[in-house]
Amino acid sequence: MKILVVGGGGREHAIIKKLKENPQIQEIFALPGNGGIAQDATCVAIGAKEIDKIAAFAVDNGIDYAVVAPDDPLVLGCVDALEAKGIPCFGPRANAAIIEGSKVFSKDLMKKYGIPTAAYEVFDDCDKALAYLDTAPIPTVVKADGLALGKGVIIAMTREEAKAAVISMMQDKQFGASGDHVVIEEFLTGPEVSVLSFTDGKTVVPMVSSMDHKRAGDNDTGLNTGGMGTIAPNPYYTDDIAAECMRTIFLPTIAAMNAEGRTFKGCLYFGLMLTPNGPKVIEYNCRFGDPETQVVLPLLESDLLTVMQATTNGTLAETSVKFRDGSACCVIMASKGYPQAYDKGFAITVPEEVASHVYVAGAERKEGALLTNGGRVLGVTAVADTLETAIEQAYALTARVQFDNAFYRRDIGARALKAMGEKN
Ligand code: AMP
Ligand code: GLY
Repeated sequence: MKILVVGGGGREHAIIKKLKENPQIQEIFALPGNGGIAQDATCVAIGAKEIDKIAAFAVDNGIDYAVVAPDDPLVLGCVDALEAKGIPCFGPRANAAIIEGSKVFSKDLMKKYGIPTAAYEVFDDCDKALAYLDTAPIPTVVKADGLALGKGVIIAMTREEAKAAVISMMQDKQFGASGDHVVIEEFLTGPEVSVLSFTDGKTVVPMVSSMDHKRAGDNDTGLNTGGMGTIAPNPYYTDDIAAECMRTIFLPTIAAMNAEGRTFKGCLYFGLMLTPNGPKVIEYNCRFGDPETQVVLPLLESDLLTVMQATTNGTLAETSVKFRDGSACCVIMASKGYPQAYDKGFAITVPEEVASHVYVAGAERKEGALLTNGGRVLGVTAVADTLETAIEQAYALTARVQFDNAFYRRDIGARALKAMGEKN
């Protein structure tokens, strides 16, 4: 079989490495991939948003199955375009990807179908939003409607901060058209849990839960990033909470999307907050999380391609999806300065024994050398029987990967370990 994977980050590298365990796969093409992915797939210089070129490539190269991993191409209709050419895909069509593409859509969906989430108001007029903020409860959360590279969310601790966020989104168009509408919502508190799930639009199979670490610095300080590390499973997500989420959030979301004529197939990511009033949805993503995938897929025992095809074919209920016991930890190595300005072009050395643990996100290959080419450069994952050992091993492996200007958080998983200590 020939497989095409759209995307070029650490998540895509993790998907490709997992897919490669299936001996029926002869070749994997990554569009565009990256310098590290090039060791595991054939990289082709077609951007993830070049939908027409992707579809043409798939036809010309006899692709049997396509995996569309990032949000942008999903929202732009990459799955629709591939399906129109007769190529089966993993991922939602554009009319379902809107669950991530528009926060106004997802908030209205949750309200209409009674799915627990933060209370909110939507504004398309800057003055009305500012007037609302004169009396809104503080802290509050201001969100740009559309995709904004994870940066369109401002937690405002004061009225002034909230108003400044509204002005930068709605007036100064910091996120372009994403700021035409803003959501202003209730500030929630509690541990956060990421639950990725496979769904064929009828059955939903949650994967092992995980915990992201979004801030750049230790102890959750510094700027928000795309994610500086992850652990799985998330100790806050108990069996009881999982059962409650299935009943109050996961199944109702699948049913709501069907009722709207927007059947969702692929990976639906539930970003949850375990509030004192029960689990609530912070956000939906229409895809695998990055770097959650780098801890979730290494724990998957079942064949990834088989499970993906079951989401496409509507046979997920009859398909076994098994995760191994134990834990995984992924430490992201980034370029000093990220998520702001950083230098790139530094040579990366990965010892051979460490390579199987590494998922490359931002690197290019030049004359045989692997060079840094992004803010998040790579992730190093270890799997072990306990979380404590997974963390220890991930850090021991990380210490053996070298490039100039590297930085990484030293406390990935520390809060999870502490929570486990408190439970016992
Ligand atoms: P998002 O991009 O929607 O995942 O939001 C980024 C981060 O902002 C989340 O991971 C949460 O930590 C935080 N956040 C988003 N919405 C809320 C909320 N209503 N209350 C508290 N924190 C929030
Ligand atoms: N790690 C969060 C995300 O993928 O959106």
